[in-house]
Amino acid sequence: MNVNTVSNAYLILENEIAKMFDEQVINGPFYSAFSQRKLTDEQIAKFSIQYGHHRCYFHQLLGATIACAPPCDKWWAPIVENLYDECGRGVAGMGHGELYNTYLKSVIPDVELTAFGTPAIPAEDFIFEYNRLALDFYKNATYLEAFGYMGPGNELLTIPMYKSILIGLEERGYDLNFWKIHIEEVEEEHYGSIRNLLSSYEDEESLKQIENGAKTSIEHMKWFYNEFYDYLFLK
Ligand SMILES: [Fe+2]
Repeated sequence: MNVNTVSNAYLILENEIAKMFDEQVINGPFYSAFSQRKLTDEQIAKFSIQYGHHRCYFHQLLGATIACAPPCDKWWAPIVENLYDECGRGVAGMGHGELYNTYLKSVIPDVELTAFGTPAIPAEDFIFEYNRLALDFYKNATYLEAFGYMGPGNELLTIPMYKSILIGLEERGYDLNFWKIHIEEVEEEHYGSIRNLLSSYEDEESLKQIENGAKTSIEHMKWFYNEFYDYLFLK
């Protein structure tokens, strides 16, 4: 199997996943509120606290993906790289938690943080529930399902999500580096490394597993962002 070849069947699947995500999540209420700049200062503050919790658990999903990888460093090493990026590759101030908190402090200058650097205001239940849904999926996932969940089902979709968020946050004087770095620097690489592993598959069974992983992730995200919208607009 040549890992540099992208099968036609994979390209079709990738397009289908991106389209499904646009229809079900990017054009849904949460991301539309951002791209249409409908959020008040108070809603942005509430979003920023809860997203601060949400992003803190991403290492668990990456860790679960590593746990599902075949016993071969070609598969798990790119996810380790991704985790290393999360903590800033040892460069002070470049950890994604630190970058996020710089953003958070630009929204809420007197924000209180715990010793772990997470917001002192507790996470809402839907933050933990999303994580539970994801980790439960990984428990029984094949490696193709797990990499489908993290690759086309997650890393591929971060750029459209962050672009919508960025539109909603622009021109308010916030430090937006956290969002921009993900769009401009890290996400293409993170998806690209998983794409290299998955994109040469063309047999029906393998593609079905990749698709199942990606579509399950989209279902989980759709639920999560609908809950997030309700929290911002209905509570
Ligand atoms: Fe990150």
